[in-house]
Amino acid sequence: MATLDILSFLISEEWVSGEVMAKRLAISRAAVWKQIQTLRKRGYEISASTRKGYRLVKKPDLLDADQIFSGLKTKWLGRDMHISAKVSSTNAAALSLARDCQSGTVILAETQTQGRGRLSRPWASPPGGIWMSLILKPEMPLNHVYRINMAVAVALCKAISSLGLEAGIKWPNDLLIRELKICGILMEVGAQVDRLDYVVVGLGLNANNDPSGFPAEWRTTSLAAELGHDIDRCVLICRILEDIEAAYEKMESKEIYEEWRSRSLTLKRQVRITSPAGDQVGQAVDLAEDGALLLRVGDELKRVLAGDCIHLRPLEAEAL
Ligand code: BTN
Repeated sequence: MATLDILSFLISEEWVSGEVMAKRLAISRAAVWKQIQTLRKRGYEISASTRKGYRLVKKPDLLDADQIFSGLKTKWLGRDMHISAKVSSTNAAALSLARDCQSGTVILAETQTQGRGRLSRPWASPPGGIWMSLILKPEMPLNHVYRINMAVAVALCKAISSLGLEAGIKWPNDLLIRELKICGILMEVGAQVDRLDYVVVGLGLNANNDPSGFPAEWRTTSLAAELGHDIDRCVLICRILEDIEAAYEKMESKEIYEEWRSRSLTLKRQVRITSPAGDQVGQAVDLAEDGALLLRVGDELKRVLAGDCIHLRPLEAEAL
């Protein structure tokens, strides 16, 4: 706990004296110094001056529970957090924990060896990204889970906009910046026939990882590539969790659906939808309150509940 307190002082003030921290935390100055050493070993660059005390010069780009907790303002989301250097998949870890943990538990990892995406695709998870799963236990019927998807997608757009970037939603739940994928969401559900037990929401957000290493056809970008500099992942994780908690608490309201719809990049576009039933090409004319895509194919209006969506560029669409 003392390391977290010391870190909070260093983050909130430019210079802070060892004496002040010792007094406020009711510990000795030697104990303060010991905690400073612990932080330095964890990669924090801290300068010391006999007159002014200590100053945080640089934070490591690591997922650090103390740093996250020193900034996190949520009531329940992320209050139980598990951070690992490497896991097979944070969703797999979350699914195995889900039954025995409280709603709002968060699993984070620096890298995943078997990160998974939608439609059983692999998800590349090098260091520098935000690979995170949330365990949620909502009291709602199974057929309302699409609301969680909407709330999470809206919240992620808001969190990303706090960096000065604008992300939109490609149906059903990809986040794009300049038509390039920045984030994917994978929801996995544990349920009885008539009851939802838990939902695991996995978020893969390209943050400080270099997307140029990914195949060009994936059409991806990262926050760092868009901004031209790395971001503080711990600060952004706090913001994401705060925005998800706020959106989740009102996910049954029309407001979330309307925001999700208004942030859609798919609406009015010519699209190709791939699903086990085959490919369909048409115009995305609307998004229904239950998350379905209303697709005009020729003279027919179809309701599409799931599938993979490709935005066709004007020329591709004209060629059809
Ligand atoms: C997609 O296909 O767009 C969804 C990708 C979801 C990836 C995230 S990364 C964290 C979590 N753990 C996983 O194995 N997958 C999700």
